[in-house]
Amino acid sequence: MGHLGAGWLERPEREAEENPTALIRLLEVKPTDVVADIGAGTGYFSFRIAPLVPRGKVLAVDIQPEMLAAIRDKRKRVGAANVEAVQGRVDDPALAAASVDLALMVDVYHEFSQPCEMLRAIAKALKPGGRLALVEYRAEDSKVPIKPLHKMSQAQAVREVEAAGLRWQRTLDDLPWQHLMFFVKPASQ
Ligand SMILES: C[S@@+](CC[C@H](N)C(=O)[O-])C[C@H]1O[C@@H](n2cnc3c(N)ncnc32)[C@H](O)[C@@H]1O
Repeated sequence: MGHLGAGWLERPEREAEENPTALIRLLEVKPTDVVADIGAGTGYFSFRIAPLVPRGKVLAVDIQPEMLAAIRDKRKRVGAANVEAVQGRVDDPALAAASVDLALMVDVYHEFSQPCEMLRAIAKALKPGGRLALVEYRAEDSKVPIKPLHKMSQAQAVREVEAAGLRWQRTLDDLPWQHLMFFVKPASQ
C-alpha cells in the first residue's frame, strides 16, 4: 500500500472490522517487551501498544519514508517516547540480531516483494523464544469481504514462515476477519 492510503489505515471502521483492542490483548505483551511493528504504516498498532511496554519499546518499521515521517510526527504530538521509527528495506527490517521479543505484522506479509528474505531477517532479529504474530485476512472464509490477493490461508502462512526457521505455535480465529497466527523462534537457534 502506498503512503497515499495512510488515511485509510486510520479509518474508524477498523474497530468493527478488525477489533484492534482484542487483537492487542491477545498478543499478551509484557511491560519490558521490545515489539517490532513491521510494516507499521501510520503506526496504528505501534501507538496502541506503546503504553503496554513502559519499560520496553516499539520499533515501528516501514520502507516508506512518508509513513515514517507520519510516525515521527505523531510520536512528538502524543509524547510516545518509546516508539522509534525504523527505516527498513524490501528485504530487511534493519533490526539488530536477537533484539526483539515480539514481531508483529498486521496486513503486511502478503505485500512483501521479498518474503523469504524478510522472514529470514525477522527470525534473526528475534530473541531465542521470541514470537512472531502474523495477522492476515482469512483466505479460507469467503464471507470476509476482501480481495483474494489481500488474503492468506493458514496453510500457506505456516509453510512459508516455518521455512524461515520459526515454529508455528497456534492460530487464534477470535478476530472478525483475520487469522492471528503465532510463531516462535526455537531457543536453540
Ligand atoms: C496495508 S499497510 C498496513 C500498515 C499497518 N500494519 C496497519 O495495520 O495499519 C502495509 C505497510 O507495509 C509496508 N511494507 C511493505 N513492504 C515492507 C517491507 N518489506 N518492510 C517493511 N514494511 C513494508 C508498506 O509500506 C505499508 O505501510
